[in-house]
Amino acid sequence: MPTVYEPAEDSRLLAESVIDRIDTGERVLEVGVGSGYVAARVAAETGAEVIGCDINPEACAAAREEGIEAVRSNLVDPFAADSIDVVLFNPPYLPTPPEQEWDDPLEHALSGGESGRRVIRPFLDDVGRVLRPSGRVYLLVSTLTDIEAVSELAADAGLNTREIAEESFPFERLVVLEITHGNS
Ligand SMILES: C[S@@+](CC[C@H](N)C(=O)[O-])C[C@H]1O[C@@H](n2cnc3c(N)ncnc32)[C@H](O)[C@@H]1O
Repeated sequence: MPTVYEPAEDSRLLAESVIDRIDTGERVLEVGVGSGYVAARVAAETGAEVIGCDINPEACAAAREEGIEAVRSNLVDPFAADSIDVVLFNPPYLPTPPEQEWDDPLEHALSGGESGRRVIRPFLDDVGRVLRPSGRVYLLVSTLTDIEAVSELAADAGLNTREIAEESFPFERLVVLEITHGNS
């Protein structure tokens, strides 16, 4: 069984929609770096300084194989305040009833708990802390996760959201949200 999320349509949509929005030399953190696919593309195609983090140590090892410096962490816990220009996150977002939870690294890659927002909520609560004043967050969300509810969580944390990219599939629409400090 694989233990690291294989890049999929969501990974590709996130990578492709942010590349023209990131400048050479900017400091980029990919939370939940997984295989390193998104981080490696952003590093190669923008010239930004890209690092990653993941709760799954095997994902950190996979990202390092792709040339991305990666640390094991829960969300942005170890990162200093006001230190990052761009945060990327393709989070676990599938709504999953408790009786269908399973306990392995792929659950952490896929399951967003009952609401789909179990990981997104604490991420939004803390990401503004690490973001520089002109910083941006690019968060992949799905209609399965209730995009309006995600925007409300961001607003509760003092952040603005707007959709910058989308792609429709038979059972969901994937959207990339750009999230900025509320005063920008
Ligand atoms: C949907 S996968 C995305 C992987 C990769 N970024 C991509 O787009 O292909 C979500 C990733 O988030 C990681 N993750 C889940 N919860 C996390 C947490 N609390 N802190 C850091 N990473 C987390 C998972 O281990 C997984 O690698």
